[in-house]
Amino acid sequence: MQSIAKYKEEIASYLSSLQLEGQPNELYAPISYILSLGGKQIRPVLTLMATDVFNEDPKKALHAATAIELFHNFSLMHDDIMDDASLRRGHQTVHEKWDVNTAILSGDAMLILAYQYFEHYEPTIFRDLAKLFSKTAIEVCEGQQYDICFEQRTDVRIEEYIKMIEYKTAVLVAAALKMGAIIAQTTAENGDQIYNFGLNLGIAFQLLDDHLDAFGDQATFGKRIGGDILENKKTFLYLKALEKANPNQREELIRFYATATCEDEEQKIERVKQLFVETGSQQASLQLIEQYTEDALQTLERLTIEEDKKELLRIFSKELMNRQM
Ligand code: IPE
Ligand code: IPE
Ligand code: MG
Ligand code: MG
Ligand code: MG
Repeated sequence: MQSIAKYKEEIASYLSSLQLEGQPNELYAPISYILSLGGKQIRPVLTLMATDVFNEDPKKALHAATAIELFHNFSLMHDDIMDDASLRRGHQTVHEKWDVNTAILSGDAMLILAYQYFEHYEPTIFRDLAKLFSKTAIEVCEGQQYDICFEQRTDVRIEEYIKMIEYKTAVLVAAALKMGAIIAQTTAENGDQIYNFGLNLGIAFQLLDDHLDAFGDQATFGKRIGGDILENKKTFLYLKALEKANPNQREELIRFYATATCEDEEQKIERVKQLFVETGSQQASLQLIEQYTEDALQTLERLTIEEDKKELLRIFSKELMNRQM
């Protein structure tokens, strides 16, 4: 078994060796650009780790891991258009550096490239990977659409928000892990349990992303702080704040989220963050992150793998949940 750093090194060097240049340059340059910005690459690392955990050579997972990371980057390219985001991984987003049409088509191309990477596997494994991937990809679209619908809605319930982040984010984390189980051809039970571990971890991961979007530091987070607030995203922070607010705070929050544009963006961000703190929703968000991380760790116990392998997944989860980026 390898160290977490070793998996990271392996996937980073594999991804940087990919020949993704081609003609027309306008299609491929944005793909190389977004990949060159790196990111944490947690999903492909999880695929390699899961393969290793179930006693197969992680090198066999490099193609699936690449597919997952390409899909993830495709989803980010389109997500940044949808969220009107200007900053990604500390750099200009593709639709700002080029334009929206470029980001749409280069994103589409990345999605197709992702699928092609499964062609490296023999028929039965190929079928299982492609099937899981398609199911996951459509769920991500559903989650993304809910996220956008919720911007306009004023009656979103916390359970609906959790379902939405399960779909837009957690299913991909879960699938990244389950692909390792498929490649290693472990038991169906192990495949299901590692998927459930990923679902809980993925929900905690998105909750923390939403938390850092308000309370993180732009230099390390690499995205504009307050972006979700400006987009009127119905995050847990917002929904919990509404629930816990007194009538005045409630009225203020609703008013801030009632219009799509605002005159003084910094003022909106600052005041809404203050309300998140004053109502105790910031604290509640940290507790919920803790709870989902704990649930993920509990799920690990149900896997029939060696103790040192469980420990590796525990360490990874804890590091992931202590991040500032
Ligand atoms: C960003 O994912 C989108 C979310 C699901 C929160 P990451 O936080 O994994 O982004 P990178 O790849 O590290 O930049
Ligand atoms: C993104 O959620 C989920 C997907 C890209 C599918 P966010 O919109 O919160 O991700 P960031 O914060 O822009 O990375
Ligand atoms: Mg989004
Ligand atoms: Mg976004
Ligand atoms: Mg976010």
